[in-house]
Amino acid sequence: MSRMLLLMLALCSACARAEDIAGKNLYMKTCSACHQADGMGVPDAFPALAGNTLVQGEAKVLIAVPLLGRGGMPNFSKRLDDASLAAILNYVRTAWGNTGSAIGAQDVAALRADLHADNLDSTPINSQH
Ligand code: HEC
Repeated sequence: MSRMLLLMLALCSACARAEDIAGKNLYMKTCSACHQADGMGVPDAFPALAGNTLVQGEAKVLIAVPLLGRGGMPNFSKRLDDASLAAILNYVRTAWGNTGSAIGAQDVAALRADLHADNLDSTPINSQH
């Protein structure tokens, strides 16, 4: 194997690990208050994401939940950009023994547009001076 190929592989796995860590950190900050750090949720209040079929199933169905909100869950469309939401969803799809396929930032962007969900930038923080 060429040195260049080895270097590329090393860099790619570092990227994947960095995304995992970012996804976990964002999950802890954004989702764990309700769904808990161990993904087990709180009975009769917050559904478990660990072992959850929706979480591991069709990507669009999962992505729509934080983009639109659901029942007692707020939406996060203005708080998370496409890459951050993809990182969180990849974390919940693979943490705690879950085995969902990978979600890309472009998948989040496409569904955000289809659903006309708010963008992170649609509410400028400094709109008034
Ligand atoms: C304020 C509490 C709260 C926070 C924070 C929260 N959720 Fe939820 N979540 C809920 C509630 C309540 C439900 C159940 C909604 C319903 O179906 O009525 C839910 C449902 C879900 C579901 C659907 C589960 C199923 O089986 O139907 C997913 C997936 C999910 N949340 C992911 C997330 C992710 C990812 C985050 C972080 C970006 C997050 N949630 C943050 C409260 C929360």
